Amino acid sequence: MYICLEGIDGSGKSTQIELLVKWLDDCGIDVLMVFEPTGSPAGKLIRELLQNPNATKNNFQNTLALLFAADRIILMDKIEAAEKEGRVVISDRCFYSSMAYQNDGDWIGTINKFAKRPDLVLLLDIDPETAISRCEGKDSFEDVDFLIKIRERYLEIADKQDFAVLNARNGLNKIHDDIKRVVARKLGMCI
Ligand code: TYD
Repeated sequence: MYICLEGIDGSGKSTQIELLVKWLDDCGIDVLMVFEPTGSPAGKLIRELLQNPNATKNNFQNTLALLFAADRIILMDKIEAAEKEGRVVISDRCFYSSMAYQNDGDWIGTINKFAKRPDLVLLLDIDPETAISRCEGKDSFEDVDFLIKIRERYLEIADKQDFAVLNARNGLNKIHDDIKRVVARKLGMCI
């Protein structure tokens, strides 16, 4: 089972993933936590490029799209191996981040031909103003106007792909409970 949390920068994904992984672990479920961009050489290059002030421009975004796809292909082996062992994979971002951020549906689909689509996607939805106030201003994507567009795209994709959309403005515990409920239903757990 491959489960992914998505959301704009500052939506609180990383905190919620930590809580989710700990909860699943406490329930005795064998979990593998992964994230994108990964720690691979491609992932490291991506993190460096994200600091560039031109990172939101078209050609830069196309370069990033290719790097994200390359980074993701490497990750697929790890995910497939974990799934074969019956482990639950929880991922901080996946293919749908490229669909939302790099935004050229057909091309993104093509270059991500080898990327597995998750069995379940939870979208932590939040207004970009609140999200930005939670960011540390680390990279060029942490800009309100840019994130307004990304949020719209996420919501469009969520509608088409049947994501579980959760209100990420709620308190930490409420969001955690919402996430637990959706994940438990998917895994057939009683909570
Ligand atoms: P993020 O999850 O915010 O990492 P961290 O919390 O460690 O900074 O991801 C880094 C950035 O990469 C984020 O702004 C979203 C962007 N991104 C894309 O634009 N496309 C993608 O395919 C992925 C996976 C991430």
